[in-house]
Amino acid sequence: MEKSSKTIIVGVTGGIAAYKSVELVSSLVKLGHEVHVILTKSAQDFITPLTFQTITKQHVWLDQLNLDREEYVPHVDLGAKADLVVIAPASANTIAKITWGLADNILTSTILATKAPILLAPAMNVNMYQNTVTQGNLNRLKELGCYFVEPEEGILACGVVGKGRLAATSKILEAIDRILYPNLDFLGKTVLITAGGTQEAIDPVRYIGNRSSGKMGFALAREAQRKGARVILVAGPTHIEPPLGVEYFPIVSSQEMYDKVLEFYSISDIVLMAAAVADYKPTISFTKKHKKESGNLVLGLQRTPDILFELGQNKKEQILVGFAAETEDLLANAEAKLNKKNLDLIVANDITKPGAGFNSDTNIVTLVFPNGKKVALPQLHKADIAAKILDAVTELPLFKLKKQ
Ligand code: PMT
Repeated sequence: MEKSSKTIIVGVTGGIAAYKSVELVSSLVKLGHEVHVILTKSAQDFITPLTFQTITKQHVWLDQLNLDREEYVPHVDLGAKADLVVIAPASANTIAKITWGLADNILTSTILATKAPILLAPAMNVNMYQNTVTQGNLNRLKELGCYFVEPEEGILACGVVGKGRLAATSKILEAIDRILYPNLDFLGKTVLITAGGTQEAIDPVRYIGNRSSGKMGFALAREAQRKGARVILVAGPTHIEPPLGVEYFPIVSSQEMYDKVLEFYSISDIVLMAAAVADYKPTISFTKKHKKESGNLVLGLQRTPDILFELGQNKKEQILVGFAAETEDLLANAEAKLNKKNLDLIVANDITKPGAGFNSDTNIVTLVFPNGKKVALPQLHKADIAAKILDAVTELPLFKLKKQ
């Protein structure tokens, strides 16, 4: 497919890596894109507008008002015409402003005004990068759907060795290419995803639940949608926002999840069961708040339906992906579940590891396939784990067969 030229806004923030954005902008212009550069005030201490104006043959946007120009409201105009907004280098300061929705300069205002995808290439001192506040901001932006090119390790301008160097121009160009010309492997596919934990009522105010936040399932939903799928997301109670544009069905109990999943199973091509479904529910659910009495209360528990097992029993052409949350014998237990539930892939997470499993922004998983193949992934943000899982789905024989 021929790649059409696009309109790209490149924001440059203050940092020694600002000079590297010249190579980036120049490469984008050579590729035929229309590039508009915005320099923050501190970026202008490192590099001049004239450099970018000469390369792009476009006005370079600073914070001064230009009453002689035809753009009535420049940030709205730039935001509207952008196919992509790239910030390289992205400083800790600008990342923090974007996270919290500040719009105190033309770059941050353009970010708020645009509906285009946003790609950030952070560059800063290693301690600033690793700072919990910066990491929290990066995670929040990932959850909101921003794209990132990770900084590289090396000798930083301050003389310290560590992670914080602006990614190589080739890597940023590769990321831009992937966003502008997305891989639509899942176009025409319906992907049914479960997320979060179920709650099994004891009475109107108490329940049996688990610590699932929904982050893993929501990351899968976002990624499947990016790859062109119709996404049906069935999720237990969660504090995070579902991705825009997915068909979202909030549920509470395992029975409600069962009903919703079964409703959509026959029209689904791929099912990704990231939810932590309660295996047991109370035998009695009191209709009124249960008053405490002297002595113990014995709560009887009964099995809930194993949704995934039932899907496996009634599988036609669907691809079924399960998750295994384990505290011991990770791979053996995951393989047993893969076979018992008739799955095409199981994602095994050892939830005892820091940075893995419930409620964490990252996960550490091993992909286990029916032919015995195992792919262990390093600790990655759940957005990146989701991308790897969907890539693995495209490699499954059934997926390839249906593509032909
Ligand atoms: O939501 P997060 O905070 O991001 O956390 C993500 C996660 C840890 C919840 C996720 O990565 C994960 O591991 N989900 C599955 C947790 C789990 O319940 O595993 P399990 O081993 O009990 O169940 C195996 C599979 O059967 C799962 O795909 C589960 O969705 C499914 N199942 C389980 C019980 C049941 N009654 N019905 C089911 O369909």
